[in-house]
Amino acid sequence: MEKLKGKTVLITGGSSGIGLASAKLFLENGARLAITGRDPDGLAQARDALGDDVLMIRSDSGNLAEIASLMQQIERHFTHLDVLFVNAGIATAAPVELVSETMFDDIMGTNLKGAFFTIQKALPLLRAGASIIVTTSIANQLGASNFSVYGASKAALRSLVQSLGLELISRGIRINAISPGPIATPIFDRFGLPPGVADGIKAEIAQKSPSKRFGQPLEIAKLALFLASDDAAYIVGEEIIVDGGMSLL
Ligand SMILES: NC(=O)c1ccc[n+]([C@@H]2O[C@H](COP(=O)([O-])OP(=O)(O)OC[C@H]3O[C@@H](n4cnc5c(N)ncnc54)[C@H](OP(=O)(O)O)[C@@H]3O)[C@@H](O)[C@H]2O)c1
Repeated sequence: MEKLKGKTVLITGGSSGIGLASAKLFLENGARLAITGRDPDGLAQARDALGDDVLMIRSDSGNLAEIASLMQQIERHFTHLDVLFVNAGIATAAPVELVSETMFDDIMGTNLKGAFFTIQKALPLLRAGASIIVTTSIANQLGASNFSVYGASKAALRSLVQSLGLELISRGIRINAISPGPIATPIFDRFGLPPGVADGIKAEIAQKSPSKRFGQPLEIAKLALFLASDDAAYIVGEEIIVDGGMSLL
């Protein structure tokens, strides 16, 4: 069944990992789709994977002028949005002493400020019945050494989803969060760690997980599809964990 038939969808950070898997699943379910990313090569690879019908927009979620331009392009192509998946995010690992102001601002700029203003600027395009989905992380409730700023950015995002859940439902707009545990995506190779160190961290995480494995991006995409669809019409301001039991430890 095409759960998103006739719906227009924007996925930020749709060129890789969770966003790309969601883009594929949303397409299979009848959505008209736009995705963003910053790296033109990543967007070109996503075009190969998704086909020419998907609107690929190079846009930095941390840049307000680019967010405004993104929404103008969406309005020109789709006139409105039914689903906004605020998924773009970065994670940089560093012990507390080594967190620079630039690193702090980059993480907060993409993960928190970018998410907030993407939602704000999209509001004029979102109709009653629309669904906003935000990707948080179980790092927002678990301590994670070397990821203090990342965890804080995602904790703020969870709070944002609760407040906006209340604020937007009177307009018929639902907002919810997906909180993934460890998912096998390229994000682990972008931590800025020396070669081999990321592999060691991945092996340690898989061993620690009650499920003894990483989740697959499709396992997050399936929840995103549910939240995007009218099946989730009465779910508001929730954060749903998909982590193979990791946060139970
Ligand atoms: N994988 C996990 O274990 C895990 C766990 C919990 C939460 N998450 C969250 O899940 C989301 C997706 O991550 P992923 O694991 O799928 O990682 P990924 O494979 O690295 O994908 C991240 C996506 O976001 C885009 N992106 C990053 N910064 C951006 C910016 N400033 N503006 C626009 N696009 C940007 C990337 O494209 P460009 O690089 O081209 O910009 C890419 O498309 C993130 O919010 C992440 O924090 C992931």
